[in-house]
Amino acid sequence: MVMMMRFRGTNGLSMNYYLVSCPFVEAVVKNVVNRALEDDPTLAAALLRMHFHDCFIQGCDGSVLIDSTKDNTAEKDSPANLSLRGYEIIDDIKEELERQCPGVVSCADILAMAARDAVFFAGGPVYEIPKGRKDGRRSKIEDTINLPSPTFNASELIRMFGQHGFSAQEMVALSGAHTLGVARCSSFKNRLSQADPTLDAEFAKTLSKTCGGGDSSEQPFDATRNDFDNLYYNALVRKSGVLTSDQTLYGSPRTKNIVNGYALNQAMFFFDFQQAMVKMSLLDVKDDDSEGEIKDMAKVTLSLFLMPKSSTVPPLIFSRKSEKIMEKMHRAFEKVKLVVRMEREEDEQQAAALEESNSFAFMDEFNRNCTLSTKQVSVFSSPTIDFRQIMVFFRLSSVWWLRKY
Ligand code: HEM
Repeated sequence: MVMMMRFRGTNGLSMNYYLVSCPFVEAVVKNVVNRALEDDPTLAAALLRMHFHDCFIQGCDGSVLIDSTKDNTAEKDSPANLSLRGYEIIDDIKEELERQCPGVVSCADILAMAARDAVFFAGGPVYEIPKGRKDGRRSKIEDTINLPSPTFNASELIRMFGQHGFSAQEMVALSGAHTLGVARCSSFKNRLSQADPTLDAEFAKTLSKTCGGGDSSEQPFDATRNDFDNLYYNALVRKSGVLTSDQTLYGSPRTKNIVNGYALNQAMFFFDFQQAMVKMSLLDVKDDDSEGEIKDMAKVTLSLFLMPKSSTVPPLIFSRKSEKIMEKMHRAFEKVKLVVRMEREEDEQQAAALEESNSFAFMDEFNRNCTLSTKQVSVFSSPTIDFRQIMVFFRLSSVWWLRKY
């Protein structure tokens, strides 16, 4: 299910924010995330959770990634964040992007894109997010008090999410992120000390058994910890939610019907989840230089993957070679060929206009459908370029593709 949302102009963010300054950003993020999750699918949960913990504290500004210093204990070292994982994936993405377009892409955007790609990798909905978040400078342990506690009841959750502008329905949909991943015993053992009428007796035994392994023992939220599906809600209906804050969603009359609805209708959950995720990804974004850091767009080095000098391999590796995508790529290349023809016929003005508009359309298409081989990316150089050079790249690519297909 693809959701197209237009956010041009919202908080200075836009879908094509990096189109010129870092045209392959989406492909690079997707590629690194996919590679990491192929090795360890449990990290999809980690990326999704990290984005949530970033956004709920001081907005989506990458502050969760900042390390503590001797004068400041950062968010990262709060007990609520100690079990966050997946930092190395964000580091790898950042490293790759710094090679291609230094100082351009914010960590906050990387987190948002990585979480989105993780959801899709795990079988969840695909959605687009606007980019252009800036990274914050503040990261303080005391701010993490604003993360929801696993012992919260529905009213407390509704209130806390409400403070961020979310409805009860959106809060329940976002909680569906617990379709991925695990909780450690320390997060749910409060439920085991006395009989809990909201907890299924058999499931209570499972939780107790898990806790037999100690505070760090892990309990999956549902039967399919690496698959994004609606089994989490079905577990709640069976009184088999792991955290108090999970099970309360079925216990409260304000949220019970929403849980029932998502348990019965996965498509409805996917739709509401992707909308709520886009909204969460826009929480208190910093979009001007006084608030956050991002390099002046006019000064950044534009990047481009050039064909390696001697190579028999294609410049791009496409992840999904479906007929439909190939057809679209061909159409884009056809337009490039038209530009070349116009130039030959010396209709330069018209050629320039077409060239520019098609550069954008092509890049959009590319970002949606393609993935880059990082091995190849590393042999490409990143010079300062202009649109004409982008077109040179397209032409080279088109020659390769047209020969092959
Ligand atoms: C509704 C309030 C929420 C509470 C109280 C809550 C609390 C928790 C807790 C306690 C854990 C387990 C941590 C541990 O034991 O190590 C956890 C895991 C997780 N949370 Fe939440 N969470 C909430 C909402 C969300 C939201 C909105 C998202 C994302 C959109 C999210 C994504 C995740 C994921 C994916 C995991 C599994 C992480 C892993 O396996 O590494 N949570 N959450």
